[in-house]
Amino acid sequence: MTTILVTGGTGALGRHVVTRLRADGHDVRVLTRHTPPYAVDLREGDDGLERALDGTGTVVHCATSARGGDEQAARNLIAAARRAGVAHLVYISIVGVDRVPFPYYRTKLAVERQFEDSGTGWTVLRATQFHDLLFRLFQGLSKSPVMPLPARVKDQPVEVREVAHRLAELARGAPAGRVDDMGGPEVRTMHSLARSYLDATGRRRALVKVPLRGPAYEAFRAGGHLAPERAVGTRTFEEFLAERFAGKGGRR
Ligand SMILES: NC(=O)c1ccc[n+]([C@@H]2O[C@H](COP(=O)([O-])OP(=O)(O)OC[C@H]3O[C@@H](n4cnc5c(N)ncnc54)[C@H](OP(=O)(O)O)[C@@H]3O)[C@@H](O)[C@H]2O)c1
Repeated sequence: MTTILVTGGTGALGRHVVTRLRADGHDVRVLTRHTPPYAVDLREGDDGLERALDGTGTVVHCATSARGGDEQAARNLIAAARRAGVAHLVYISIVGVDRVPFPYYRTKLAVERQFEDSGTGWTVLRATQFHDLLFRLFQGLSKSPVMPLPARVKDQPVEVREVAHRLAELARGAPAGRVDDMGGPEVRTMHSLARSYLDATGRRRALVKVPLRGPAYEAFRAGGHLAPERAVGTRTFEEFLAERFAGKGGRR
């Protein structure tokens, strides 16, 4: 039985990775800022990090903060993992981080490079957007009677549990470097995905396509964040919505 440390193990992805690995019989430690006994802010690193890594064979790095600091967090994690003799570092990244000049994607790419240069065994999986991310985006946008959507942008959302399953599989295996990307089953316009969201929630909103400017938008418009040739996810956005509203009268 290997001891596996999952950073961000309470997050949208991490908690499913933890469940999966525990179901497979692994000794799993969860590290976040708020989960004793491994409550550690990775951006600071401290004795808690050393303790979390002591006896750990593999680290699955799912922690992230939208407020920044992911590069410093990865630096601290990798340095401590090397000192602890961790054999395998697994990182979850995003499809197109090298094609879309979006600030968060630049950070993800920089962290990927840190893993590649870590001097220890590493695996990096890039996935497309999780269904839940789009759900929350539409939830926010539908607060006003008119829902603005980026014009001519598509997405390929994927079921987070399927990504977690794949990540757990990679964590159990030997270091594999950059593995094949993982995309959801369908490439869809944002308009069509928003329609499905509105249908499922019973909301009536006017959808307005807003042309945006700038290199990041151009890259999204060109589909830099998509992996149509790697549409390996099976669960559709509609299936995700149906499960989300099951037992709630189907509408919300
Ligand atoms: N969401 C998507 O559509 C998507 C798609 C592809 C790849 N990804 C990648 O998947 C990974 C997980 O995303 P997610 O959506 O599951 O994130 P999430 O739900 O926001 O969870 C983030 C996790 O990181 C922990 N955390 C945040 N800052 C930390 C810090 N400084 N030190 C230690 N732990 C910290 C959080 O717990 P505390 O707040 O308690 O510390 C939480 O457990 C990210 O790397 C993301 O880029 C996401």
